[in-house]
Amino acid sequence: MIEFRSVTKTYPDGTVAVADFDLVVPPHRTTVLVGSSGSGKTTLLRMINRMVEPTSGTIEIDGTSVLDRDPVQLRRSIGYVLQNGGLLPHQRVIDNVTTVLRLTGTPKRAARERALEVLDVVGLDRSLAERYPSQLSGGQQQRVGVARALAADPNILLMDEPFGAVDPIVRAELQTETLRLQQELNKTVVFVTHDVDEAFLLGDQVVILQEGAHVAQIGSPSEIIENPASEFVASFIGVERGTRALHTKRTDRGTVLVDTAGRTQGVLVEGTA
Ligand SMILES: Nc1ncnc2c1ncn2[C@@H]1O[C@H](COP(=O)(O)OP(=O)(O)OP(=O)(O)O)[C@@H](O)[C@H]1O
Ligand SMILES: [Mg+2]
Repeated sequence: MIEFRSVTKTYPDGTVAVADFDLVVPPHRTTVLVGSSGSGKTTLLRMINRMVEPTSGTIEIDGTSVLDRDPVQLRRSIGYVLQNGGLLPHQRVIDNVTTVLRLTGTPKRAARERALEVLDVVGLDRSLAERYPSQLSGGQQQRVGVARALAADPNILLMDEPFGAVDPIVRAELQTETLRLQQELNKTVVFVTHDVDEAFLLGDQVVILQEGAHVAQIGSPSEIIENPASEFVASFIGVERGTRALHTKRTDRGTVLVDTAGRTQGVLVEGTA
């Protein structure tokens, strides 16, 4: 479990990126932080692994303040997928993936074996291991980023808009893969995005943020869609748009559900979900 208590981050130029933030991140679940650009998402994520230090407040992992942990050791124990992949361009895929393992003293052969295993886990062919990042597609690079974060088998995985730079089709593929991975691996995942649909697809718990990381609402996707806490949330998640505002339409074969663009999205089945 990760717990933020009254966390504030003021950058040296006076920008208050995070103001008095509280959150409990339950273990073995995916928590998604969603908010527009500049709302403080990356700052929140980086305070978990101490790449950014809070100005005040505490962040605890399983009851121990991160400030009481050695920052280097802490960082190596937490998987981190960066906003733009963050692969080292002059190192082969295999060396990118083994970085943390090598730093923590895993012998070369064992590190290599583990890296190949983890390429399997993220659905990359082992033959790509000898390539450089620039010789991969955008989606493949993102998978390498995930493989690198998973290599040391961390309990916690931080993902900062990992699919922001890829086209919508690849993005959908990577989202599905992420759901599959999470079912298999059961990590505590903190996932950052500004895409509400991605948040609702991947999140067990979704945190909607406004400027200064002010929490507009926190809950499961169903709770938020069924009961938006404010006009801001309703408008941010688009309750009146697209597939979130379905109308019923009678047809000869029964009742179907139609979105705001007039497209039929499904069939109404009576009974409880
Ligand atoms: N090193 C820094 N120095 C000063 N201000 C910063 C620094 N890093 C971030 N900020 C500011 O803090 C606020 C939050 O930034 P942050 O990067 O956490 O937002 P974000 O939600 O991740 O945005 P995005 O969706 O664009 O990645 C912004 O106003 C940003 O300009
Ligand atoms: Mg960011």
